[in-house]
Amino acid sequence: MSAPTAILGAVHLDPRSEIPLYRQLYENVRVAILDGRLLAGLRMPPSRTLAKELAIGRNTVVSAYEQLIAEGYLESRVGSGTRVAAIPPDTLIETGPSEERNVAPDPRRRLSARGEAMLTVKRASPSFVKGHVLPFQHGMPSLELFPHQVWARLLARRARQPQSRLFDYQLGTGFPALREAIAEYLGAARGVICGPDNVIVTAGAQASLDLATRLVVDPGDVVWHEEPGYMGARGAFLAASARILPVPVDKEGLNPDAAPGGEKPPRLIYCTPSHQYPLGVTMSLTRRLALLQYANETGAWILEDDYDSEFRYAGRPLSSLQGLDRAGGVIYMGTMAKTLFPAIRIGYLVVPDNLIEAFQRAIRVTGQNPPAIVQAALADFMLEGHFSAHIRRMRSLYAERRILLLQELEKQLGGRIKPSAPDGGMQLPAFLPEGVSDDDVVAAADRHKVLASPVSHFYLTQRKRHALYLGFAGVPEQMIAPGVERLGLALAECGV
Ligand SMILES: Cc1ncc(COP(=O)(O)O)c(C=O)c1O
Repeated sequence: MSAPTAILGAVHLDPRSEIPLYRQLYENVRVAILDGRLLAGLRMPPSRTLAKELAIGRNTVVSAYEQLIAEGYLESRVGSGTRVAAIPPDTLIETGPSEERNVAPDPRRRLSARGEAMLTVKRASPSFVKGHVLPFQHGMPSLELFPHQVWARLLARRARQPQSRLFDYQLGTGFPALREAIAEYLGAARGVICGPDNVIVTAGAQASLDLATRLVVDPGDVVWHEEPGYMGARGAFLAASARILPVPVDKEGLNPDAAPGGEKPPRLIYCTPSHQYPLGVTMSLTRRLALLQYANETGAWILEDDYDSEFRYAGRPLSSLQGLDRAGGVIYMGTMAKTLFPAIRIGYLVVPDNLIEAFQRAIRVTGQNPPAIVQAALADFMLEGHFSAHIRRMRSLYAERRILLLQELEKQLGGRIKPSAPDGGMQLPAFLPEGVSDDDVVAAADRHKVLASPVSHFYLTQRKRHALYLGFAGVPEQMIAPGVERLGLALAECGV
């Protein structure tokens, strides 16, 4: 006796949907099986019949059936057509149709206190609208001038190599040639004292912040954070349940003497000495020495975030804090997000000798490694000289864009806002008159298709300064003057 043929009942197909028709049919049948409307053993209508009934192409039905067969919902036997497979009840329970899942939240299934704290960090604004970078997104390098052809060639070359180390699990703290290239570069360009063993390659600065903090900070430990300071770092400290203590920044950088009293000494001091984020000041040598001395006296680690020091336009670059340290108390970090492009997701830590093994073992637990092939291609990019050539080109391009932005701000908005002209970096703060909220101006700028970030958001205490954080590095020259003009309209709307 032949098995009864399944009656599909209501099948909802929407020809205007972005979901292909075969996928919609697949989903209809899958849900009917999981619901128990189509029982095991039922024969599915022949593809030709169903296609006619639903007024769709036969191939659409065949593709849907093939997918359902591949996933085990249907079975096809020669001579007896396609039938509903006997699906083990466990699978039915686990993969019940989403619309019928119990959506009432179970109060016991909640986020951790740490998880809740992580969500308090504000989201960055989108930097692209329909594929165009908006003026004046901060932290964005120039993407249009990245040597894409060279990068594509190097990636393809590595992807073709049957070298097992690029395809297996064993990279640990990074591709050896990349760690060597980074150590050499940092020694020459940043005065960082290290060998390849001290270099830990991570999936970007954010991963470095998370890894380093969790490795040396216990829940409740005090972490000094620059006030104002980088929100990404604040997020990593919250994720480690640290007690974040905002320490004011003055014109010499983070000021240990201004740290709030009555607190335990910090376990970790986070700072951006080359180019303070977001005020742009460079930490003076006196302050660097004072900070190192304070850290040595209290046994605190210093986490030095050298995120954009490659771009310096005036004065001699000061070498890193790490290079001045003689006590092995500085953990140094940098990123390829600014020198190359953000989505590369490669950063690096340089850790003191006595932490090498701890970091080697910890990164195995956290899994913050970038893909091996990308690391290998980047090593080639550095060793073949493309990295330093690209930095040189970008440095002079960003210098021009910085000048152009400052000139336009002066010409079009002279006196209405006060831009600071930092010696380096990819962005600058422009201060608003007393009593004007940067949130209001940013909202007005958004309406005029200009991106600016409110500097007040980078403060933890109430003593906030209101300014617009304006990126210039990634903004093509021809967009700068019109961008400033639109910013002027936004300011006028806010009475500035
Ligand atoms: C202070 C600071 N550190 C680090 C980074 C880079 O982070 P990532 O490598 O995670 O993109 C940025 C980028 O905005 C930054 O401003």
